[in-house]
Formats: sequence, C-alpha cells, structure tokens
Amino acid sequence: MDYKVADLSLAEFGRKELTLAEHEMPGLVSLRTTYGDAQPLKGARIAGSLHMTIQTGVLIETLVALGADVRWATCNIFSTQDHAAAAVVVGRPETGGTAENPKGTPVFAWKGETLAEYWDEAEKVFDFTDEAGNPVGPNMLLDDGGDITMLLHLGVEFEKAGAVPGQDSTDNEEFKEVLRVLARSLENSKTRWTNIANDVKGVSEETTTGVLRLYDRFKEGSLLFPAINVNDSVTKSKFDNKYGCRHSLIDGINRGTDVMIGGKVAVVCGYGDVGKGSAESLRGQGARVIITEIDPICALQAAMDGYEVKRLETVVDYADIFITTTGNFDIIKVEHFEKMKHQAIVGNIGHFDNEIDMAGLAKIPGIVKDEIKPQVHQWIFPDGKKVIVLSEGRLLNLGNATGHPSFVMSNSFTNQVLAQIELYTKTEEYPVGVYVLPKHLDEEVARLHLDALGVELTILTQEQADYLGVPVEGPFKSDLYRY
Ligand code: NAI
Repeated sequence: MDYKVADLSLAEFGRKELTLAEHEMPGLVSLRTTYGDAQPLKGARIAGSLHMTIQTGVLIETLVALGADVRWATCNIFSTQDHAAAAVVVGRPETGGTAENPKGTPVFAWKGETLAEYWDEAEKVFDFTDEAGNPVGPNMLLDDGGDITMLLHLGVEFEKAGAVPGQDSTDNEEFKEVLRVLARSLENSKTRWTNIANDVKGVSEETTTGVLRLYDRFKEGSLLFPAINVNDSVTKSKFDNKYGCRHSLIDGINRGTDVMIGGKVAVVCGYGDVGKGSAESLRGQGARVIITEIDPICALQAAMDGYEVKRLETVVDYADIFITTTGNFDIIKVEHFEKMKHQAIVGNIGHFDNEIDMAGLAKIPGIVKDEIKPQVHQWIFPDGKKVIVLSEGRLLNLGNATGHPSFVMSNSFTNQVLAQIELYTKTEEYPVGVYVLPKHLDEEVARLHLDALGVELTILTQEQADYLGVPVEGPFKSDLYRY
C-alpha cells in the first residue's frame, strides 16, 4: 500500500480519537448500519481531497464500509491532523493493520506541507490500481474547494491543446505548482487525464468556494461530469458553516494567541453563513463585533442582529482582531495592514488565503516575518509595529485548531456519503450539471441527528398535513424556504 503521512506511530492515538468521534457522528454511523450489507459503493474508486482530520477519518471509513476503494489527500497545507492520517492508513482494528503492515486507506497528507508537496500529493489520489494490479483512475471525486476537480479539468484541457503553459505564464506561486505537476504528467502520457475524466461519474463538492468554481465551469460549458453541491444542503451550510465556525473560530484564535477576546473590538468581514457563526463566536466571548458587508440584505441582517456594520477603512485603525469570511479575494490589503494597531490579530476562515494580501504584506520594504510558533507569525514593520497573522492567511480554524467538532461534521459528511451514493448508483439520472440533494434526504440527515440531542419531533396529524399541503412524513418545506 502506498501512502505518505507524518508518522504511523501516531495511529493508536488517532484510533482512540476516531472511536470518540464515531459516538458524536450518528449520521455517518447509521449509514454504515443501513447500507453496510447492500454495499452501494462497491466498485467505486473515490479520489478524495478534504482536510485530513479525525472527522474526515470517520467519513473515509464510512465510504470504505459501503464498498468503496478510496485514496485521500488534504485540501489545505496546514489542516491535517497527523494522528488521524496515521490511523486511517493503519486501518480499523478488524483489518489487523499495524504501523509495520498498514491495511487501511492510502492517505497523502501531513501538517505543514509545502505548496509543491501539496500538489504532488493531490495528484496521487488519481493513481488507483484495479484487481489485476493494473493502473486505473478514480470513477468518483469527493472534493473540498475544487482543487482536484480543477487538476483533472486542466489536465484534460492541456492534453487537448497538446501542451501545458510554462510556469512563467503566471505570477501565482501556487498555480506554478499546478502547471509543474501537469507538465510532468503530460510528459508521461498524452491521454491520462482524458481517460480518467471519461470514467468519472461525478463529484460531490463540500464548500461554498468549490461550488462557485463548479457553477462557473457549468456556465461556460466546460464541466466534464455531474456534480452534487453538498454545501447547499441546508444541513450543511446552515450548520457546518455557521455553528461549526461558531465553535472553531475562537478555538483557533485561542490556541494561536491565547489573547483575551472579551472587550476587544473584532471585525468580521462578510456576514454569510461563516460570517454569522464567526460573529457569534466572538460575541460569545464578549468581543465588540463589527461587520463589513457588500450585500445590503446581509448588512441589514447584521445590523438587526445587533452588530455595527462599517467599512473596513472606518475601523481599521482601532480594531484588535480582523477575521475574513467572504470567499472573495483582496479583503485585507497592504493599506489596511499599514493602518492597524500594534499587535492587531489578523486571520482568515474563508477557503483560500487570497482574502488577505499576504504577498503584498511580504513586499512592504523593511518588513520582517518572525515565527512565534508554527502557524503564528508576527510581522514587524520598520517602525517597530507588529501585526500577528494566523496560519499565514489560510483558514485558521483548521490551521491553528482542529476545525469543526464531530457532531456538526456528521451532518456535512452524511450529505457527502449520500451524494456519492446518488451519483454512483443513479448516474443516468444526473446529466452534466450541478445539483443539490433532494429535500427529503436533507431532512433525513437532520433526522439522524435528533436522538443524540434528545429532540422530540412533533408529528403532523393527517388533517394538519392536508391543511399545510405537505405529506405527514415530509418534505415539509418548498425549495424556496430559506431556514
Ligand atoms: P456566503 O456566500 O454565505 O458568505 C460570504 C459573504 O461575504 C456574503 O454575504 C458576501 O456578500 C460577503 N462578501 C463578499 N465580498 C465581500 C467584501 N469585499 N467585503 C465584505 N463582505 C463580502 O459564503 P459562506 O458559506 O459563508 O463561505 C465563506 C467562505 O468560507 C467560503 O470560502 C467557504 O468555502 C468557506 N468555508 C470555510 C469553512 C471553514 O471551516 N473554515 C467552513 C465553511 C465554509
């Protein structure tokens, strides 16, 4: 078995935490019980790219329990939990796997990868072998942020064009690595990516940013296979993005800085689902929270939730903590850094690091980057002012802490598994396009998590159901309902 992780001796610790997590992930565990015998994912070869955490370990082992063959990389250079990666590679106890003879799932991820390593490992999730030992590609993708979906699409496009653009065609350091990996691949085969794409039945995408990239491709006519937008299941974005960030944002700030949050002025850029959870997270600690927004609806929501809504320029010189949550780019720029207070804290919880202009910060003449500890740096300006940046501008809840807790991720990942089953078993029902899971499945995901919280659901009478015009067993809301 091939794999690349930090240290397999961490597997025992990882297994203990995986077992704890299973208790908190009733949705995933119930899918194992419901579908374990039927093996709906038998024959599926799933290439996965998603933060390699304990919770993701439970997701991977659920996919395997349903019959899938899986290969996994992380979708962020700082988010891997090395003990989780080790435990997944060694395998569940019943496999008999050990650190010397691992029998689990191939994982290619460790905390603190370089960008070059990140893209080298991302490519490896495409390298399956069939039962006869011959190389074969995946037939399903499971993505978070769209990186492996992009790699495959670009591979196909460059094969069609017969060449990969030179690395000097871009200023983006990360994209240079993508071009390097694809150029190497094209030297070995001119049809590898095209062959893989022909086999792929679909992709399930985890997050807002990845979904945006999928809709863009679909609109321009370049999407190669159907996609399920897991993010916009209600039981994903209205739970993980909101309540997950409510938990993990301050966890990241605390572990990174241990600064007292109460009484501080915190700016949250963006008041979408992640912004709402982040603002509540900081307010819960007693911070005085200010929101920035471009959308009048979200700005009004923020105001009516009791937050001040201002432009960044208005507050940049007196706020203590700055958090970006927009999924957009260039939110905190050099001109903002220059006006910040001494020891202001800056972090991002959106998917990509371009929300904060880290490249611009590094280019300020005379600036010095000083590491306090991994993923916590102070940037010292020529006049002695210091600004603390968390996780080098990458998502700090996973870089400085351990991301969202298991229970909320059980909701997200139950949607992921259902999406994989849908695309794999009902391929002909999904022509190329971007879909959300049907509402009855969304409601089912929520239902699977009620007992654990002692929730008593009121049952409609037939008369009440007729009055509302809905079935007694649901779905209860129209697709237009916003929750
Ligand atoms: P969303 O679309 O609900 O919210 C983003 C908000 O930012 C919108 O209300 C938008 O109007 C606002 N915005 C856009 N440009 C802005 C600007 N220049 N200034 C101020 N506000 C601006 O998206 P969602 O679901 O909240 O996701 C945000 C990002 O977080 C995405 O990149 C997503 O992939 C990522 N994400 C991260 C998670 C984590 O654990 N760190 C979890 C879930 C999502």
